[in-house]
Amino acid sequence: MQRRQFIASAGALALAPRLPLAQGLAPLRLVAIEGRQSLAGAPHPETTIWGYDGRTPGPNLRFRQGERLLVELVNRLPRPTTIHWHGLRLPNAMDGVPHVTQKPVAPGESFVYEFDLKDAGTFWYHPHAESHEQLARGLYGALVVEEPSAYPIDRDITWVLADFRLDREGRIMGDFKDLRDATHAGRLGNTVTINGGTPETFKAGPGERLRLRLLNAANARIFALNFEGHAPIAIATDGQPIEPHALDRVRLGPGQRLDLIIDMSHKAGSRFRLLDDENPRAAYRLVDIVYEGEARPRREAAPPRLADNPIARPALEGAIRKRLVFGGGAMDPAFRRRQPTNEEIERIRQDVRAGKVWSVNGHRHAEHAHHDPIFTFERGATAIIELVNDTAWPHPIHFHGVVFDILTRNGKPVERRERRDTLLLAPGETSEIAFVAEEAGDWMIHCHILEHQESGMMAMMRVR
Ligand code: C2O
Ligand code: CU
Repeated sequence: MQRRQFIASAGALALAPRLPLAQGLAPLRLVAIEGRQSLAGAPHPETTIWGYDGRTPGPNLRFRQGERLLVELVNRLPRPTTIHWHGLRLPNAMDGVPHVTQKPVAPGESFVYEFDLKDAGTFWYHPHAESHEQLARGLYGALVVEEPSAYPIDRDITWVLADFRLDREGRIMGDFKDLRDATHAGRLGNTVTINGGTPETFKAGPGERLRLRLLNAANARIFALNFEGHAPIAIATDGQPIEPHALDRVRLGPGQRLDLIIDMSHKAGSRFRLLDDENPRAAYRLVDIVYEGEARPRREAAPPRLADNPIARPALEGAIRKRLVFGGGAMDPAFRRRQPTNEEIERIRQDVRAGKVWSVNGHRHAEHAHHDPIFTFERGATAIIELVNDTAWPHPIHFHGVVFDILTRNGKPVERRERRDTLLLAPGETSEIAFVAEEAGDWMIHCHILEHQESGMMAMMRVR
């Protein structure tokens, strides 16, 4: 059966009284397994990656809003794994956090994920076990939930952006818990990929309007894309609709998504560079946009606003206020004034090995389980959380189980209401966010630079 057909019937099933699995349909199967793939293109050697169905990124899953996701994860990797459905509102037992919401899926075992897709948008899926290593090996994929009615565009494209750290033989380097990565910017790769490859060109048709869904699946790289000659318009942040507006810097931290509308308004034969200039001294060309084919009449109407997802709007009066201070890392205020001594360096090394470099409200948590929730909210409560980045590094802070409204940045109200599940905080930055705690369970809060997460920048909130 075709995936599309299966999805359609699964959606119909969700409306009927729940049937036991055995009587229902077979779930869509995702096999986590090693594969061989050409990441850097010929003449570079192929790479052994970890991927869903042996590819990186894994299958681009597509559903319709309101359908039911039913996926069986089969683990054929040598390590335990899980799937976390990043950005989706779902029951806690489906959240894929090992030892908290489920047992890790051991090699040779499988696990069935099943839940309703309440929101439309651009989401993704990835493991939450040894994430810093499993994602660095290529284990992730995009998940697109379509709106009930079609958006006026000519082409809908998803780009999974990532990077890999390869040696000369094309092997993924095994230095997953490198001290420098853990204490600094995280693991940056040396090969940046779009959908698991390094294409020279992206072909555009003159006059076409694209919806480009960007997803940053890299462990640590922040992208700032500069589409020379084009004027991208953002219509959704982390899958959540926003008032359409032009962007000159298309910036995405790890874990974040951005839906763009781009009018390809040039003539056949023209060529433009797409640059990543997040680090201006090391800007590089990601791909060339090359125009070819017949011109089509361009769409003149401004891109419409997408309908909001059915997420409760936080009522701010009477909200519970909390604060999360992110600390630690290299250039920690304590070491800004002087060099650490050899003993201190040795202690830092031990802390890294024990997973303790970064902190949340002074706690350094390295394990998913075995620590108490940092906050507890009653179901239905509205929370306003002030996030404080007290480090010298940017951190994309991700909340499981909720989608939040961004209220302020550095004390100033934001220009337009933006909803997200992952907020990129600059060094020293403060931001207030608000959400309604709707689903019971223990939900993670963590930095999506996975080396930071694994070395202390994680916490748990409880909704009961
Ligand atoms: Cu995309 Cu807890 O992560
Ligand atoms: Cu971080």
